[in-house]
This record gives sequence, C-alpha cells and structure tokens, in this order.
Amino acid sequence: MKVAIIGAGGLVGKEFTRHFSNEHEVLPLTHNDLDVTDAQAVTRIILDERPALIINCAVLGVDACELDPQSAWAVNAVGAGHLAKAAASIDADIVQLSTNYVFDGQVASNSFYTVEDVPNPINVYGQTKLAGERAVKIASTRCFIVRTSWVFGAGKENFFSGAHRNLYAGNKIRAIKDVWASSTYARDLVLRFSEILILRHYGTYHVVNSDRCSYYDFALEAGRVLKIADSELKRLIEPVDLCALQLIANRPRYTPMHCIVSEEIGLAPLRNWRRALAEYIQDDACHLNR
Ligand SMILES: NC(=O)c1ccc[n+]([C@@H]2O[C@H](COP(=O)([O-])OP(=O)(O)OC[C@H]3O[C@@H](n4cnc5c(N)ncnc54)[C@H](OP(=O)(O)O)[C@@H]3O)[C@@H](O)[C@H]2O)c1
Repeated sequence: MKVAIIGAGGLVGKEFTRHFSNEHEVLPLTHNDLDVTDAQAVTRIILDERPALIINCAVLGVDACELDPQSAWAVNAVGAGHLAKAAASIDADIVQLSTNYVFDGQVASNSFYTVEDVPNPINVYGQTKLAGERAVKIASTRCFIVRTSWVFGAGKENFFSGAHRNLYAGNKIRAIKDVWASSTYARDLVLRFSEILILRHYGTYHVVNSDRCSYYDFALEAGRVLKIADSELKRLIEPVDLCALQLIANRPRYTPMHCIVSEEIGLAPLRNWRRALAEYIQDDACHLNR
C-alpha cells in the first residue's frame, strides 16, 4: 500500500515513517516538500501520487498558535480540510492526528475523557485542532481521527522525550505539578494505529498509554528508571505550578483520555505509561552511554 505522511519531519511523522516503511511504500512529505495551506499543491501531489492512505501529522504547536492564530487556522484546520478533500477525490483513507487539548479539563478529577465527552477547547491550538477534525469528517467518510496526548519518542526533543537525558546529564529541570494528562510513547501510538487500520473501523480514537501523570510525575519516573537516588531527584527536579512558567497559551488542567472505541473493536487499552517510558529510556540508553 502507498502511504503519504504529511508533516513527516516531526515527532509523530517520523515514527509513522519509520514503522510504515517496513511494510508499505511510504511517501514522507516534510513541510519543505508540501505546505498543507497550499490547496493547489495538496491536490497536485495527492492526485499525482495517489496514495491509498494519507496520515496528516502537520501541525502548528500550542504556543505558536496563540501567537499567530491566522496561521493556526490555516495549518491545523483549513490545511487538514485540503488533505481530506484530496483524499476523498481518490477514495483514499485519511488519518487526522488530534489532541487532548480539544477538551477544557473541567472533567471530574479521577475520570478520563472519552469520545462521548463534548470538546470545549480553551486555547487557539485546541480550537483549530477541533476545527481540523470537523473539516476532515465533513470532507471524507473514510477517516480516522486519532487524538493523542503528551507524546514522547526519539523523533523530537520536548519535555517528555528529553526528561531522562536531562536528568542523566545532571541538568536541573522545572516540571509542572498541577496539570495532568495521558502520555503516549510514539511507538505505541503508531503500533496501535496499525491495528486499527487492519480493522478498517473509521471513527474517533483516543490513542494514549494507560493511566495519567503530571509533568512532575513523568520526570520523577524517568529519574527512577535511571535509578537516580530520590535525594538527587529532589535536587534536580523543581516542581512548579503552571502559572509560574508564564507560558503563552493557557493549558487545560486535567485531560487524561480513555478509548472506548478501541474497546468496542476488541483492542485492549495500551500499556501503562510507566512501562512505555521504561522501554523508551532503555531503547535510548545507547545515546546516554556515549
Ligand atoms: N507531540 C505531542 O505531544 C502531541 C500531543 C497531542 C497531539 N499531537 C498531535 O500529533 C500530530 C503530530 O504532532 P508532532 O508532535 O509530531 O508535531 P511536530 O513534531 O511539531 O511536527 C509537526 C510537523 O508539521 C510540520 N508543519 C508545520 N506547518 C506545516 C505546514 N503548513 N505544512 C506542512 N507541514 C507543516 C512541521 O514542520 P516545520 O517544523 O518545518 O514547520 C513539523 O515537522 C499533530 O496533529 C498534533 O496535534 C501531538
């Protein structure tokens, strides 16, 4: 099968490219190769290449969206719609990656958002991602909406991908202790999507590792996997409130997710994030030892 991966230079796009290249003919398109805001370019490349599956990983990030709402709408919402229209015109399947930030975080603590909960985004990123989901669903009946959350993996440095490396190097980190969500190993995300794809059950999925954490919980666990003493972890990890970081975009406080649609089609919840993190750190150990 021919698979076009859009936004292939990013964290999730790289993991899809790596995984799907084993079994499929993959066309990885970075931002340089294709700008999703350019409707004509999208149509041209999709009609020329005629992939059977299009995976849209292109995105403008959380704070960038708040700084530049016009680009946020163009990339995250309108761009997704361009891809879905092109997909529909050649009867291709399309995957639209989306986010826990479509929710407002007001759910009762200790519950998990499911697809039955009504989205209510509180920042531009969430609003444009939700609009992207809707644009894809309007244009294509053959779509998978895959909401994920706090992704970590080898493809790109972010708080979660790099926490263990910082701690190993003895770097101090500040970790938010009053925001909770699901976290997701990029490898588990892509493997789960492969399973969903085989079943060809279109719909909206929450693909995340089980359980929830704060940034602080995540950093502590990374340190424990590395067997760093608790006293040293106390010195290295500074727990902070969200407001102390003065981030540009507001973040919903509590957005752990759970996937009822996967359960309906016979897929068990993904493993606990702690187990996934331990495996990621182990896989990354060769870098630590250099
Ligand atoms: N990472 C997470 O924690 C997380 C959490 C929840 C949901 N998601 C979702 O997962 C998907 C992938 O996210 P990610 O973490 O892989 O993001 P990422 O690492 O920032 O990658 C996004 C890619 O999109 C490209 N891009 C930006 N504007 C574009 C445009 N106009 N046309 C084409 N490509 C463009 C970027 O290229 P340049 O950098 O060169 O501009 C970048 O390579 C997104 O839908 C995101 O909402 C991610």
